[in-house]
Amino acid sequence: MATTHVNAAASGTFALGGDLHIHRLGFGAMRITGEGIWGEPKDPETAKQVLRRALELGVNFIDTADSYGPEVSERLIAEALYPYPGELVIATKAGLTRSGPNRWAPVGRPEYLRQCVEMSLRRLRVERIDLWQLHRIDPKVPVEESLGAIKELQKQGKIRHVGLSEVTPAEIERAKKTVPIVSVQNLYNVGDRKYESTLKFCENNNLGFIPWFPVAAGALARPGGPLDTAAKSHNVTVAQLSLAWLLHRSPVMLPIPGTSSVEHLEENVAAAGVQLGADEWKTIEGEAARK
Ligand SMILES: NC(=O)c1ccc[n+]([C@@H]2O[C@H](COP(=O)([O-])OP(=O)(O)OC[C@H]3O[C@@H](n4cnc5c(N)ncnc54)[C@H](OP(=O)(O)O)[C@@H]3O)[C@@H](O)[C@H]2O)c1
Repeated sequence: MATTHVNAAASGTFALGGDLHIHRLGFGAMRITGEGIWGEPKDPETAKQVLRRALELGVNFIDTADSYGPEVSERLIAEALYPYPGELVIATKAGLTRSGPNRWAPVGRPEYLRQCVEMSLRRLRVERIDLWQLHRIDPKVPVEESLGAIKELQKQGKIRHVGLSEVTPAEIERAKKTVPIVSVQNLYNVGDRKYESTLKFCENNNLGFIPWFPVAAGALARPGGPLDTAAKSHNVTVAQLSLAWLLHRSPVMLPIPGTSSVEHLEENVAAAGVQLGADEWKTIEGEAARK
C-alpha cells in the first residue's frame, strides 16, 4: 500500500468558498524550506520535484505562507509550477513575522498585511490570491482592523477568499462580521483534538477545516502503539492511517500533509485510498482518547 500511486481525487472534493473545487487531500508547502522553516531547503531541486509530483498525483490544493522561509516556499512554488494549471488552488497566509529559525511573532497591523499581500502576489506570480489566510490574530490589533485591510484588497480583486488560522468559534463569528470567512486552519490530528468545537462550527457553516500537523506523532504513533498496530494490520503506515482518519472524520476536512521528500508525498497521497470500517475507526478513536 505504502508506494501504490493513488490519485488525490480518491479523497473526494470540497467546494472551497462555494466555487473552488478541490480534492480534499492537499499539500502543505512549509517543509520545502530550510531547518526551522528558515532559509533555503538543503536541496531546492528535490523541493521542486515534490511540488511537481504532487500535481501529477492529483493534488490541486497547496497551502503556503509568506513566512515559510520567509518568502522561500512561495517563490519555489512559482519556480516549480508557474504557469499554473487552471484547477490548482494556492492558499497563502500572512500575519506572522520571522526573526530567525523557529521564531514566529504575530503582526496584524493593516498597513503591514497590505504589504504582505502585494508581495505574495508578486512572488506567486498571480493577479489574485485564491485563499488568503490570517496566520494569527494579533492580540495587539483588533481583528476588525486587520481584516478591514483584507476586505479592501478583496474588493480590489487581489484576494478571492479569506480564511483564518488557530481560532475558536467565537473568533470566527467576530471575524465574519468584517469579511466572509471560507476556511479555518487549526492544529488537529487523531492525537490532538482540542479544536473539536471549531471543527463542529466549520461543519455547521460549511467552512473548510484545514488541520495542520495532520500526521499524528508522540505516544499514539509509537512502535507497538495503537496506531502502529492498526496500521500494520491494514498493511498501511501510521502516516497514512492518520490522514485517512482525518478524511473519514468530516466531509469539510482538508488535510495538507507537508513533506520534503517525494517518497513521503507518494505515501501520504495514497492515504486517500485507505478504507476502514466504522467500528475500526471507533476503536482507534477510543485508544486515542485514552492517551
Ligand atoms: N496555520 C499554522 O499555524 C500552521 C502551522 C504549521 C503548519 N501549517 C501548515 O500545515 C502543513 C502541515 O503541517 P506540518 O508540516 O507541521 O505537519 P505534517 O504534515 O504532519 O508533517 C510533520 C513532519 O512529518 C514528516 N512526514 C510527512 N509525511 C511523512 C510520512 N509519510 N512518514 C514519515 N514522516 C512524514 C515531515 O518530514 P519529512 O520532510 O521528512 O517528510 C514533517 O517534518 C504545513 O506544510 C503548513 O502548510 C500551518
